[in-house]
Amino acid sequence: MTTKIIGHRGASKLAPENTMYAFELAYQLGAEGIETDVQLTKDNVPVLIHDETLKRTTNGTGYVKEFTYEELKQLDAGSWFASEFSDARIISLEEFLVWIKPKDLYLNIELKNNKIDYQDLESIVYESLKSHRLIDRTTISTFSSKSIKRLSKYKNDLEIAYLTSKKKPNLVEYAKDLGANALHIKYRLLNSELMQQAIAQKMPVRIYTVNKYKQMMNCYQLNCNGIFTDVPYKAITFRKVFQFKRNI
Ligand code: G3P
Ligand code: MG
Repeated sequence: MTTKIIGHRGASKLAPENTMYAFELAYQLGAEGIETDVQLTKDNVPVLIHDETLKRTTNGTGYVKEFTYEELKQLDAGSWFASEFSDARIISLEEFLVWIKPKDLYLNIELKNNKIDYQDLESIVYESLKSHRLIDRTTISTFSSKSIKRLSKYKNDLEIAYLTSKKKPNLVEYAKDLGANALHIKYRLLNSELMQQAIAQKMPVRIYTVNKYKQMMNCYQLNCNGIFTDVPYKAITFRKVFQFKRNI
């Protein structure tokens, strides 16, 4: 099995995370999928931004949920990263889905509802994916176990991943019992036993955030289904090294 290389917030080492620049770069540099984070605006528009607040990645302040999408679109979401990106904007999930639809890319929509439990975020995102006919190449993930339970009603036609950075004795069983059918874990939780359990349960496992050579090689070796990386171009090159070494 080939480990899929997924741009974490796009190619977020080269361009401002979760903007069109980062997504387009990840695609052009050969990423096979895109991971992005969703929060909800005051007028219930799902938008792509990692934090609940605007301060770190825009020139605004306050909470995403305090502003309408029209208001958020005025912000500069690129200068914090580098001045060349001052025209980068917060985009809606809708714009992102229109962009990704014609491309051969896997997508992972991470619901950022573990700190603010946005009402109906699960169904808003699900309906949006459905209307674009993107359900069969998407995973919805969240750190919130409450949200996983709500999402589990979609699990027959959609992949639902439990996201975690916390050690647990039997994570695969735990995720399954919550109602997830995939597992997205922090790199330090990865080991061969977990992978064996996941393979036995037919549960895909993807790892975040994998930016270093040794970590990448370990994920390839253990047959992880995917890695989330800020440096997809590097991950692709190292995967070639891994395959080359395995074949000689
Ligand atoms: O979805 C994987 C990863 O993005 C989860 O953590 O904080 O980078 O969104 P975070
Ligand atoms: Mg994320």
